[in-house]
Amino acid sequence: MINQNIRIKELDPHTVGESEATALNIFDNRMRAEQWPLDPLRSVAETIGHWRFVPEYLDLHQWAAWSDAEKKVVGRGHINIGRYEENPHMADFDIDVIPEMRRQGIGKALLRRIVAVARRENRDLLLVTTDRDIPAGRVFLRRLGARMSLASHTNQLDLSHLDMTLVDKWRSRGLRLARSFDLVLREGAYPEGNLEAMAELKGVMNTAPTDALELEAFTWTVDHLRQEDRCLISLGVERWTMFLKDRTTGELAGFTEVLRDRHYPDTVEQGHTAVSLKYRNRGLAQWLKGEMLSRMIKEMPQLKKIRTANADSNAAMLRINRSLGFRPLKSWSTWQVDLDRALGYLGE
Ligand SMILES: CC(C)(COP(=O)(O)OP(=O)(O)OC[C@H]1O[C@@H](n2cnc3c(N)ncnc32)[C@H](O)[C@@H]1OP(=O)(O)O)[C@@H](O)C(=O)NCCC(=O)NCCS
Repeated sequence: MINQNIRIKELDPHTVGESEATALNIFDNRMRAEQWPLDPLRSVAETIGHWRFVPEYLDLHQWAAWSDAEKKVVGRGHINIGRYEENPHMADFDIDVIPEMRRQGIGKALLRRIVAVARRENRDLLLVTTDRDIPAGRVFLRRLGARMSLASHTNQLDLSHLDMTLVDKWRSRGLRLARSFDLVLREGAYPEGNLEAMAELKGVMNTAPTDALELEAFTWTVDHLRQEDRCLISLGVERWTMFLKDRTTGELAGFTEVLRDRHYPDTVEQGHTAVSLKYRNRGLAQWLKGEMLSRMIKEMPQLKKIRTANADSNAAMLRINRSLGFRPLKSWSTWQVDLDRALGYLGE
């Protein structure tokens, strides 16, 4: 039974007023402080921006749980409906409730809204990721019959621990490969002329392990890339992408990309790194990583740490990252919930 003083309201980040936006920001910072206690707080504009600027290929439905008496947000739930061809059976969601308001039925009430959208959209499988340091998420998901399907970590490299000898070794090995490949650094949006090739190269990410997740491979399109680029620009996030182009065939052989939020110049997010199957086992990923690291060190004087998300089963990527000095920072579990189980739990 939900606490009687709580009201669940649809949340539209495009129309929220100033006082609502402030309350939402206080809530969001509260939740972020639980997960990332050492990270700085976000401004109102950043919080609302992250919920507002999502690519058009995602249909984001969200709700906030309000304590009317205190004019305070105590919970938020959302579900993302992907408007693309693959995985029409799936949607991802999340629910957060502030610690002192847990165990009062608020999570369940938010789940009810999420499940109603999933049902309307014929999404039979729901995906959610929980922080392994917060056991309440695991207990809640087990209660509704979820299956733990993928273990992952956020790994972090403190730049003072970076093994520069290794970086130099990978770069000098790369110099020998430079006869066969051009190395190109792109700052900002992908070049229009390369969008088709870039979309295809992104598809290589489908070869990364997904363990027990029941997901089909995702095909990136030129439109997806353009939509993502527009969001990054709106959020004030800059991206550097480094490509390797086969000099003989003109094919893109591999890429690595890093993202930096201009509000936090000391931190970079290492995004995707992928090398096409036919170009593997030649040291291309190490060359890309080595070149990108050396470029960042030279041109980002405020940079202190690099973060990246890796599946625990991604042995190839972890080997590269660990040898550079990346260490586990946070651990995550990704769960799958059958819609029928969630409906059963809610008594619907
Ligand atoms: C997970 C979370 C959203 C649950 O919110 P909540 O408002 O406390 O959940 P509810 O009060 O609606 O509880 C729903 C059910 O889970 C059970 N439950 C929730 N937390 C529990 C806990 N810590 N221990 C035992 N049972 C728990 C409740 O007993 C209830 O079961 P019932 O329906 O049989 O009575 C909240 O703990 C949270 O914000 N955690 C951090 C974020 C997170 O992990 N989110 C991912 C989950 S989608």
